[in-house]
Amino acid sequence: MDVVKVLYSKEEIAERVGELAGIISRDYQGKELMLVCVLKGAFVFMADLIRCISIPCTVDFVRVSSYGSGKVSSGEIIIKKDIETPVKGKNILIIEDIVDTGLTLSLLSDRLKERKPDSLKVCVFLDKKYRREIEFEADYVGFTLTEEGFVVGYGIDFNEKWRFLPDVCVIEE
Ligand code: IMP
Repeated sequence: MDVVKVLYSKEEIAERVGELAGIISRDYQGKELMLVCVLKGAFVFMADLIRCISIPCTVDFVRVSSYGSGKVSSGEIIIKKDIETPVKGKNILIIEDIVDTGLTLSLLSDRLKERKPDSLKVCVFLDKKYRREIEFEADYVGFTLTEEGFVVGYGIDFNEKWRFLPDVCVIEE
């Protein structure tokens, strides 16, 4: 498995993350915002995003599994690590690395909505729109992918490898 090309450079990523943070800061002005980072893939994205957000916010982390050790979705999610903060009265913004079939974020959103937050929205770094199997729209999207390919870097892995890359890259067998 080799890295074949850079899809988004660290400079392009920094610019887009700054833009997203500006929009989020405006949208949530005066509201109690809680970012919920989906581990592990979104940890780099969230760390960059939160430092560009200009309003007070809190954070929590959730870990779900939908992918095994390969590239194929298992078709269900298991919450492996739940958030530890009550969400009632909060405005939840889920921070995720990639939306692919839409299954993970759709199911996770439903679970968190059951706990009655004031609002719940989703921010994804990458949207693989062409891969959607169920109807799901993220509220904030970093980049929309139009070409087939498995991406790594900027916190995103393949079998736990490549998370350290500062750019988002495509890998091939
Ligand atoms: P979904 O439930 O099919 O939307 O799956 C979303 C999850 O699949 C993401 O959080 C990623 O962990 C994983 N995923 C999908 N495409 C890729 C990719 O190109 N690289 C790495 N992980 C991916």
